[in-house]
Amino acid sequence: MISTDRVAAVELLRKGDLVALPTETVYGLAADALNSIAVAKIFEAKERPRFDPLIVHLPNREWLRRIAELPAGDRQLILKLADKFWPGPFTMVLPKCKLVPDIVTAGLDTVAVRLSAHPVFAEIVGELDEPLAAPSANRFGRVSPTTARHVLDELDGRIPLIVDAGPTEHGIESTIVAIRDSKIAILRRGPITHEQLSEFADIVSVTVAQRISAPGQLPSHYAPTTPLRLIDNAQAFSPQKNRRVGLLAWSGASRSPQAFAAVRNLSDRGDLREGAANLFRYLRELDALGLELIVAERVPSRGLGMAIMDRLERASHR
Ligand code: TXA
Ligand code: MG
Repeated sequence: MISTDRVAAVELLRKGDLVALPTETVYGLAADALNSIAVAKIFEAKERPRFDPLIVHLPNREWLRRIAELPAGDRQLILKLADKFWPGPFTMVLPKCKLVPDIVTAGLDTVAVRLSAHPVFAEIVGELDEPLAAPSANRFGRVSPTTARHVLDELDGRIPLIVDAGPTEHGIESTIVAIRDSKIAILRRGPITHEQLSEFADIVSVTVAQRISAPGQLPSHYAPTTPLRLIDNAQAFSPQKNRRVGLLAWSGASRSPQAFAAVRNLSDRGDLREGAANLFRYLRELDALGLELIVAERVPSRGLGMAIMDRLERASHR
């Protein structure tokens, strides 16, 4: 439904639902960034066949240090850029704080943060007082929406509310930069230009491979160091004796996990949203145990299951 009801938007976001919101760049599909299940719903509604790290939109500047680490050597530069370009169409990729769920960053150690200047967005995120994860509010592979009507065309029936504030100002997505060793790397060009940024620091070029936005192809994408193998069903698999094998199970019903050194169930009730929300966290946890092998059960390949399988397949081809 298209409406201008900001109070309803805040209420829906607070209970973990999705709301499409106007920003000064394009319309975003927002969810409470600190609620993994709510964030999983974003990927489901967009029908993304894989997980892409999302931009976290802050309620105010105070939130920056709760979401991102500011490395001592880069702190001055980061704060100067924030002073100059925030609020506005400008996103910085910074080391992430623990508070940010792994599904938001698709397992990366960095988080993209932005402070939107749009008055309606600012009012809603300010009232909620929680950061919002929001990609552009289009289905996978389609162009970003710049009006509420575009969002309706893309996502009608999949989300409870689209907040209408007319066409967006810039019409293209925010400029994304990474700050490294006192230099600025432009990861995505946008309304804040190379020239504007070069007044603050040297701009380093980013190779095409590094710029590819398909997340699983980002060289920095989180990948487990422990070998991972896909299996259909843990019941039919027994680890060799004296090998330390971990199991990433799909749904936990009637498993006999004794043979495994560690077990994580993506979703006891076989819920793909819950599985997606847990995926990166469990991969990390298993990876940290120094196991010889992780075996992962295939999940149903429908809806979010395709994004989960994409990630597991990438993790198994190493
Ligand atoms: O203007 C915008 O930025 C809009 C509005 C809604 O804020 N949002 C937007 O989000 O364009 P999205 O998800 O469509 O694009 C975000 C891009 C993706 O290409 C993603 O790979 C990249 O940001 N990204 C997010 N987190 C990252 C990270 N930690 N490292 C590198 N790239 C990241
Ligand atoms: Mg997009």
